Amino acid sequence: MSGHPPASMTAIAIRAPGSPEVLEPRPHPVPGIGAGDVLIRVVAAGVNRPDLMQRQGRYPPPPGAPDTPGLEVAGTIVAVGPSACDWRVGDAVCALVAGGGYAEYCAAPAVQCLPVPRGLTMIEAAALPETFFTVWTNVFERGRLQAGETMLVHGGSSGIGTTAISLGRAFGATVYATAGTPEKCAACERLGAAAAINYRTDDFVAVVRERTAGTGVNLVLDMVGGDYVGRNLEALAVEGRLVQIAFLRGARAEINLAPVMQKRLTITGSTLRPRTPEEKGAIARALLQHVWPRIERGDVRPVIHATVPLERASEAHAMLEAGEHVGKIVLVVENVATHPRR
Ligand SMILES: NC(=O)c1ccc[n+]([C@@H]2O[C@H](COP(=O)([O-])OP(=O)(O)OC[C@H]3O[C@@H](n4cnc5c(N)ncnc54)[C@H](OP(=O)(O)O)[C@@H]3O)[C@@H](O)[C@H]2O)c1
Repeated sequence: MSGHPPASMTAIAIRAPGSPEVLEPRPHPVPGIGAGDVLIRVVAAGVNRPDLMQRQGRYPPPPGAPDTPGLEVAGTIVAVGPSACDWRVGDAVCALVAGGGYAEYCAAPAVQCLPVPRGLTMIEAAALPETFFTVWTNVFERGRLQAGETMLVHGGSSGIGTTAISLGRAFGATVYATAGTPEKCAACERLGAAAAINYRTDDFVAVVRERTAGTGVNLVLDMVGGDYVGRNLEALAVEGRLVQIAFLRGARAEINLAPVMQKRLTITGSTLRPRTPEEKGAIARALLQHVWPRIERGDVRPVIHATVPLERASEAHAMLEAGEHVGKIVLVVENVATHPRR
């Protein structure tokens, strides 16, 4: 281990399960690192919906993960474990972590770090890991999306949704999206969705059928669940794939299995956080090879809705809960020097 991090830092604690006000800045020991880890001086940390669930006591950190919330950071490496050979002190990285991101320093498995892409600020880089790892593994690995195919993305204006629209389009798919207001629908279309469907006023199954000349889409990326499951199966084409990544309207659904058999559908899904560092490392390598060059060319860019100082993490949670955002909300550690584009 090298570098000289301090012994103590500010981190955001969850005082007790509850509303956003339970988040408060507190002094916290700087985390130690294992042989395969790096210690990052955090410049910015992404805020994600799973953080809200953790704050409410509905999504406890997996065994061994820190209690401090925060699943992604960007910053500068200040210490390197003996087996974390790919990184040096001073490297600018973004990292997927199992917790601990809402803090001035964060430990991360070296394999889960990626270089800050050229042309992006640290704030933009902090918005990448959680949604890019999730979309890559679910849409491209599990869902096998190919150029020339069609995809329907629910929650198109969310952090995950904006990433799925951008990546789907960058890889040559035609993307449809759903969102809850005309403004959010317009944002999805600006990002590259061929059409965005206001699910409060229009039936997405009917619109998708009309847009695809009756065949349906090849892939549905769904975070809604509940009554959407049966409708997603209706919206899929022959050999279509339904990829479930959350269930905002409930985990249970009664479905008609006939379309699964008639259209030879695949229903799959996954959750990122409990996967092993080795599995997350494999996703990181795939992103570095296939996606980072597209970010550096400017084909794909994270959508930042707002930045909020780390100490005011409760405001960031209230903002995400209000649900008016398009893209990501990012916490910024204020006393760190500014973060020019690399
Ligand atoms: N499986 C995984 O590995 C994984 C990883 C990361 C995140 N996730 C999940 O993915 C989801 C999105 O995460 P995020 O951080 O991108 O969250 P986010 O930005 O807060 O987005 C949530 C979205 O859900 C939509 N929504 C909420 N309630 C809805 C409902 N009843 N019907 C239809 N749409 C609804 C909202 O859109 P409207 O305002 O348009 O309704 C909003 O765009 C979360 O549920 C999260 O837990 C899963």
